[in-house]
Amino acid sequence: MTQDNSSPFAYSPSDELILVVDDDPTQSLIIQSMLENRGFDVLVADNGADAIAAFQQHNPSIILLDAIMPGLDGFETCRQINALEHDSQTAILMFTALNDDKSVDMAFKAGAVDFITKPVCWSVLIARIGYLLKQKANVKHIRRIEERLRHSQKMEAVSNIANNITHNFNNILGSIAGYTDLLIDLKPEDKSDKSAHYLQQIKKSTQRANTLVSQMRVFTNIAITHLETLKPSALLDDTLSILQPTLPGSIKLIKQIEQHLPAIKADPLQFQQMLSNLLLNASQAMSGTGNITITLRQFQQDSFICSYCFHQISGDYIELSITDTGTGIKANTLKKIFDPYYSSKPFGEAVGMGLPIVQGIVHESGGHIMVESVPDQGAEFKIVFPVTEEPSEP
Ligand SMILES: Nc1ncnc2c1ncn2[C@@H]1O[C@H](COP(=O)(O)OP(=O)(O)O)[C@@H](O)[C@H]1O
Ligand SMILES: [Mg+2]
Repeated sequence: MTQDNSSPFAYSPSDELILVVDDDPTQSLIIQSMLENRGFDVLVADNGADAIAAFQQHNPSIILLDAIMPGLDGFETCRQINALEHDSQTAILMFTALNDDKSVDMAFKAGAVDFITKPVCWSVLIARIGYLLKQKANVKHIRRIEERLRHSQKMEAVSNIANNITHNFNNILGSIAGYTDLLIDLKPEDKSDKSAHYLQQIKKSTQRANTLVSQMRVFTNIAITHLETLKPSALLDDTLSILQPTLPGSIKLIKQIEQHLPAIKADPLQFQQMLSNLLLNASQAMSGTGNITITLRQFQQDSFICSYCFHQISGDYIELSITDTGTGIKANTLKKIFDPYYSSKPFGEAVGMGLPIVQGIVHESGGHIMVESVPDQGAEFKIVFPVTEEPSEP
């Protein structure tokens, strides 16, 4: 089956599992071989109960279900699968006897999306499977777009609120900090031991609040970028010469930087902020000990789906990858890491704005970000920046 990588509705047979349910082993074997020859993954069940169990365990893309089987027949199996609470996009295609309109009607009523008559015409079966898989890819693509839209609306609202709060909060903080300093500067005879201690605590809290405000400021000001056309290796070398000394000595930084790469557009200060946030996260995930590998090269993957905006990209990009040997990120945490103020770290130790700022900077310069992680082994943040035709600044 041909595969069109450029279309969002493309699918690859090797990623698709098809469950064949038929009580006739010869029939199942023929369908299985025919589908496997075309690159599909195939699972076989010879009765309704096993088919339901296989559906729950493996979540196949398509179920080819025989209507007439002893025990639980195909119609009842189809009904029970559809009655299960599930989020899957599994399409059920039923085998019915030729010219049996009643069975066809029963199949649709039971929840099948299509039917095929026996004896099976292979070219028709393959065409139907192709059509169903394209439809499934289509639904997936629409869901991604909807999620992207929801996310960008949420981010716009958060950004507006943050802007307002930052402004007002900053003024209040200024006055608290000012009066605290005045009290601290009072002569010792004018204040008790306890009040001196309490004042130091107020001062510490004010400093923490200031950090929060400045993170919010960075986040809401990301749109104010000063993009320059730069040589990526020089930009990375310069940035690392500033950031490397801030890493604990027990962390080994491994650099794999290709020198002669096409130019990109970036704001050097924001690039530094982005890398600083990523290195801090990596260092925290390794409790200060381990390896961070930084790689800079021409983007080589066929396709790349942004973990933040779900945009699918391919083509001329420069790829910056930051890999650590830390705790990694669990699947349910991965969904939240770009949410403003999300943090898995103890309260008071983190603000949860590191990655929202990173994604904002990356997208402002036309780039995208992808996160991959194996829990307990580490995490990789891959960032891609579009190549520009403009000559880089000296
Ligand atoms: N390199 C990493 N390894 C493991 N977890 C990470 C890494 N980077 C980010 N995370 C997870 O993403 C969350 C959000 O990161 P961030 O926005 O920087 O907020 P913060 O670091 O303040 O918690 C972190 O709390 C952590 O759970
Ligand atoms: Mg962080």
